[in-house]
Amino acid sequence: MLLFLFPLLLPVFSPASAWIPVEDWESGNVTASLGESGQCLCHVYLPETTFPSDRVQHMQEVSKDLILEVDIQIKKIEGYEGKLEVYLKDLADLTLRVAMLESSADNYIKLDFEMLRIELRQFEALVSQLKDSLNSSSPMFDSLYTEIRNMTLIVDQLEIYDKSNLQLIRFEFAKLQKKLEECQQEQDYIKPDIGNCNHTGILSISKPVVIQLNHHLSAGYHYGGWGKDSKPLRGHESMYFYGGYSSPLVYDFYMYDNYDKLLLRSYFKHYHIPNGWLGVGNNYIIHRNSIYYQINSPFSMSKINLTGSTTAYRVIPKASQKFSYSYSENQNLDFAADETGLWVMYASDESKGRIVLAKIDEKSFGIEDEMSTGVYKQLAGNAFMACGVMYVTRSVDVSTEEIFYAYDTKTKQEKHLSILFPKFQEKYSNLDYNPSDQKLYMYNNGYYVSYNVRFNKE
Ligand SMILES: *[C@@H]1O[C@H](CO)[C@@H](O)[C@H](O)[C@H]1NC(C)=O
Ligand SMILES: *[C@@H]1O[C@H](CO)[C@@H](O)[C@H](O)[C@H]1NC(C)=O
Ligand SMILES: *[C@@H]1O[C@H](CO)[C@@H](O)[C@H](O)[C@H]1NC(C)=O
Ligand SMILES: *[C@@H]1O[C@H](CO)[C@@H](O)[C@H](O)[C@H]1NC(C)=O
Ligand SMILES: *[C@@H]1O[C@H](CO)[C@@H](O)[C@H](O)[C@H]1NC(C)=O
Repeated sequence: MLLFLFPLLLPVFSPASAWIPVEDWESGNVTASLGESGQCLCHVYLPETTFPSDRVQHMQEVSKDLILEVDIQIKKIEGYEGKLEVYLKDLADLTLRVAMLESSADNYIKLDFEMLRIELRQFEALVSQLKDSLNSSSPMFDSLYTEIRNMTLIVDQLEIYDKSNLQLIRFEFAKLQKKLEECQQEQDYIKPDIGNCNHTGILSISKPVVIQLNHHLSAGYHYGGWGKDSKPLRGHESMYFYGGYSSPLVYDFYMYDNYDKLLLRSYFKHYHIPNGWLGVGNNYIIHRNSIYYQINSPFSMSKINLTGSTTAYRVIPKASQKFSYSYSENQNLDFAADETGLWVMYASDESKGRIVLAKIDEKSFGIEDEMSTGVYKQLAGNAFMACGVMYVTRSVDVSTEEIFYAYDTKTKQEKHLSILFPKFQEKYSNLDYNPSDQKLYMYNNGYYVSYNVRFNKE
């Protein structure tokens, strides 16, 4: 439901290294020379006028006035019953103002404004939705309200923007986005009952929470995955991981201490898969600080224990490299972890391309049980496990996905169902349920997307 995009990396402004659009370079002054060790040095002198100090001063004055103005407005409005109506209208104004801004903005931040507008529209939709369900006495509401006020301020400042402002706006949006997500979680979905499988399966999937474009800020990194360890070691409960690539090859991962660090792209570890162990397919998971993923030489399931830095592989003799999911190549082995343990899904010649579901014994890293299912792998978008049930998805249209099939490993029963859920982008390469927070994580054509899962408790 929320969008947050970082399409461009903008360095923090400093006069000697200011980022300026390519077309402005002629107004600077470039010289080249040879350095002491023969390296080529490039000197760029920028005209003083690049940094609009007069505008910044003006902006600061205006923003002071705005803060005052907003304070007054907040005080006024606080007394009113119809708080929500008021700020809904403010948001509508905001959207208009941003639309106006966009027409005058430099091309290079056009995309930012586009995303800003989308975000504001979605934000408005969320607020309408909250309006129905929210009790105005909720403290969450008040802090959200302040946050919206703050965002309004920032977007106002944008009217006299200077390029270095964008960084600030992004930080503010990151904070707001997080708050909204918490709010949404509280309002839309009953607190998950972690580990409890006393239900009859998935009832519905929430709207997508689109967190942001990947760590590389590259829309070309279509292939990848992100999420959390499905059984984190103590002290690593809030860790997130990300791997993103421009092809189905899997060669590195980034690890983040927590969600904020993921948003800020501030990793504590950039792990390179050792030579000879390169992966493919992006249907990996992390479980107890070990990565489970597919390798192609030899074609097998592979495991890297990040704690002990050890590697291991196991060939599944029947598994075939012929069958992949519909959105991406090389997805022959799909790993999953749920409340009941570790799983791998594949198709074989023997199964005539239908998915075979295998339970992995964690200790020996071997296959302990196998079940044939009735669903053709190539028709599926992806598959995941939750509470011992395999759920398989397929595309309905460019913005809708459907869970259309379920296989219960306890009863060995399969059934067809239709649980629709929206996608942000058409294709995705990684979809997994995480039993530690009961969310679905999707790497949606370069974007981090997550969903809340609602189970049928009857
Ligand atoms: C380039 O910079 C030098 C040193 O700042 C200055 O003397 C010169 O006039 C500049 N040339 C142009 C074309 O701006
Ligand atoms: C909202 O709050 C009031 C009192 O604070 C309470 O009586 C009412 O039940 C609440 N409504 C909902 C839907 O939680
Ligand atoms: C909103 O902005 C004010 C002034 O900059 C700041 O003091 C306050 O902490 C901000 N509130 C939130 C919730 O971010
Ligand atoms: C499972 O849920 C049902 C209905 O909510 C309840 O009657 C039953 O006692 C629960 N069983 C367990 C083991 O919690
Ligand atoms: C990973 O290695 C550590 C240290 O050698 C070991 O204690 C742990 O059990 C291993 N984890 C898995 C999942 O194999």
